[in-house]
Amino acid sequence: MTAAPALGNDLTNIKQRQAAIDEKLDVLADIYDDDVNIAVWQRLLPNSVLEATSKVLLEKPDLQISLALDPADTREVLVNALGMQAESAALVTDVAGLVDMFCYLFDLKNVGLRLTALGHTMCPRFHVDKVPCRLATTYFGNATEWLPHDRVDRSKLGPGSRGKPDAQSGLFSRSDDIQQLDIGDVALLKGESWIGNEEAGLVHRSPGLQPGTLRLLLTLDFAHTSNFSSDNTKSSKHMSRIVPISEIWGESEREGSSSGHTLQGGVKFH
Ligand SMILES: [Fe+2]
Repeated sequence: MTAAPALGNDLTNIKQRQAAIDEKLDVLADIYDDDVNIAVWQRLLPNSVLEATSKVLLEKPDLQISLALDPADTREVLVNALGMQAESAALVTDVAGLVDMFCYLFDLKNVGLRLTALGHTMCPRFHVDKVPCRLATTYFGNATEWLPHDRVDRSKLGPGSRGKPDAQSGLFSRSDDIQQLDIGDVALLKGESWIGNEEAGLVHRSPGLQPGTLRLLLTLDFAHTSNFSSDNTKSSKHMSRIVPISEIWGESEREGSSSGHTLQGGVKFH
């Protein structure tokens, strides 16, 4: 695990938080650590997923899937929604794997899934989410931007900005404080509704988009929270449970994958 360096500036809040970032899937279980408010599994998407994503966006540039589902139904629901079984198969498999992993990690029987093609900046201002935890991954286009906890003056969020743009409100000090996920990265963003994480939800925003460009964003949320506990003693249990999920991505495909950066911002849809 690689933790983002703490700067210890004067804007530090009482609660200390850091990022857990690694190329290994099991870094996602670190979200159970009290002092972690973002966990990122850095991965390179297989070519098959990149190609399926491009085909889906070309066919469905207005794609909007938003529903609550049982993980057992993910493939069928997505195939029906996308209507292009062969072309989208690799993308469907990837999404279904993430749904399974998310449900295992948090003991969820249902998940709120949104798979959306975005031609505009959905949430342009830095903000926190009033959820326990949200999974976000970008399959195409610019990915989510976020701020390390110790770089944020949270009094400047929302009305505290006094209507000023993020770059002028005092929310952060330097433009290079802004971190950005890459295509394929799987991020767990801990929100304000995670017990004990009040006033420490990850500050993030949608990336800017050039006119005529698209991004494909997947988010997963808790549809039901009755089985979920943020008790961090569960993390080791869940770490052992989620590792086998990596089997959904075959070794040969991962070895043959190329960087998602080759697609980032490089194709326009009209
Ligand atoms: Fe958000």
